[in-house]
Amino acid sequence: MSDDMAWTRRPAQYEAPQIDTGVPHSARVYDFILGGKDNYAPDREAAEQMLAGWPSLRVSMRENRTFMHRAVRFLAEQGIDQFLDIGTGIPTSPNLHEIAQGVLPSARVVYVDNDPIVLAHAGARLNSTPEGRIAYLHADLRDPEAIVRTPELTDTLDLSRPVALSIIAVLQFITDDQQAYRLVKQYLDLLPAGSWLVLSTVTVDSSPEPIGEVVAEYTKRGMPARNRTKAEVEQFFAGLDLVEPGVVLVHSWRPAPGTEGDVLDSEVAMYGGVARKA
Ligand SMILES: C[S@@+](CC[C@H](N)C(=O)[O-])C[C@H]1O[C@@H](n2cnc3c(N)ncnc32)[C@H](O)[C@@H]1O
Repeated sequence: MSDDMAWTRRPAQYEAPQIDTGVPHSARVYDFILGGKDNYAPDREAAEQMLAGWPSLRVSMRENRTFMHRAVRFLAEQGIDQFLDIGTGIPTSPNLHEIAQGVLPSARVVYVDNDPIVLAHAGARLNSTPEGRIAYLHADLRDPEAIVRTPELTDTLDLSRPVALSIIAVLQFITDDQQAYRLVKQYLDLLPAGSWLVLSTVTVDSSPEPIGEVVAEYTKRGMPARNRTKAEVEQFFAGLDLVEPGVVLVHSWRPAPGTEGDVLDSEVAMYGGVARKA
């Protein structure tokens, strides 16, 4: 681990987490579908089953990832240099800090995930610029207060200045709606005015039957998941100022020039949006 990376394991008397390779895990299924190597046979089997049911799943996940790139670049270009990324996933270059620090080398990022395999790879793969700083928290997102008050976070992010909160492709795993809305609000309440929310999550609006089967497959394999309608996703942004084009399928969120029309709506199962807290 480099000096510019703070490292935490919570709670204080933390036992090294075990990677359970006998059952699929969402981070490793996602890693496999994105072409990564940090996955095991049950992850690959689950992923193959899902891809057989809906081959566009790979397109959808890639589009989600490039949505993250565009949204983070957009925010860095607005001068946002602090990011809190909840549900980071197994490091996949370019990671969020590479995008942010590519624009603002002094950008600071706190990553949070509760999967032991993400923890295992974070130290080696999440390397900051010398001017910037990164911290990684192994924690469950369902405790916003504890996460935001953790010393490693407060040593890394200045909470008197705007922070971009990113919760990308994670809330489908928080199946209780009221809990999901409450969590996003709790995080935002802990951040100052001028902070931002970048969020994406699963929908079946665009291709109901095959995506519905993928969501059912996640649930059947011990990873309960939930899809949401556009109105349900918009509710995460209640009280915030959504920037154009609002909540849209992720490939349609400010697509890179010349890429419009490359991907069909029916190939994408994620809604995303970016909004500012006034
Ligand atoms: C589909 S991946 C998304 C990764 C990344 N945000 C992206 O969009 O490329 C979902 C991630 O959320 C993490 N996750 C799921 N539930 C979580 C929880 N309760 N607390 C923290 N992380 C969680 C998983 O471990 C996984 O790494």
